[in-house]
Amino acid sequence: MRTPMIAGNWKMNKTPAETKALIEDLKKIENRSGAEVVVCPMTVCLSTAAEALKGSEIHLGAQNVHFADKGAYTGECNAASLKELGVEYVIIGHSERRQYFAETDVTVNQRTLKALEAGLKPIVCVGESLEQKQQGITNEVVCLQTKVALLNVGEKIDDVVIAYEPVWAIGTGLTATPEDANATIGAIRGAIREVFGEAADRVRILYGGSMNDKNAHDLMAQPEIDGGLIGGASLAAEKFSGVINFN
Ligand code: PGA
Repeated sequence: MRTPMIAGNWKMNKTPAETKALIEDLKKIENRSGAEVVVCPMTVCLSTAAEALKGSEIHLGAQNVHFADKGAYTGECNAASLKELGVEYVIIGHSERRQYFAETDVTVNQRTLKALEAGLKPIVCVGESLEQKQQGITNEVVCLQTKVALLNVGEKIDDVVIAYEPVWAIGTGLTATPEDANATIGAIRGAIREVFGEAADRVRILYGGSMNDKNAHDLMAQPEIDGGLIGGASLAAEKFSGVINFN
């Protein structure tokens, strides 16, 4: 009942010209899984991407949004501008934002609320560090991150997507086992259920962290895993095609 989602997080890769070229290649891919496909280019490439995606079934996402409507926030991007460009989804709280740009659970919540207010659908990232995993506190960490990120979201919960991305698995080639990822995502869904009740069964929760054309099938076979947030393997059409057609 939850439509699978395969979202490409292009991070700080692809110039506008390269964005256009990759989108042209992606548009040729036959989508045999029925997954909703999303691409998230750099902010500066969004208008090129929006233009290139016209008439295609691929959805457009951004990689961040600020929590203020506008003002003195040099280097940031507001929700109204993303909306005006035709952006539908926005990644919030990616671990690289938390690690390098001082993003916290509180700012993740602020950005999530602002995105929802503007009619954008947040893809909220949570995940434990290697140290936290070794200490056996993965579930506590990701459930708290999720609950704080979703404070005051209310009935807009249906517009939220969560991405569970173990920090130690991102860009490392290490992947959580399908069973572990499934169990952790089940715990996250449980935390959402505590606050939002049965809406938890409608929230899509993706896995992210070295997901690729080789391991997508096994990850997607797990009942709790509703899709993937794909970094490296989303940067070339052939690989991304293998993830989209995970079935
Ligand atoms: P990766 O990145 O697929 O390159 O590990 C995933 C992400 O950071 O969203």
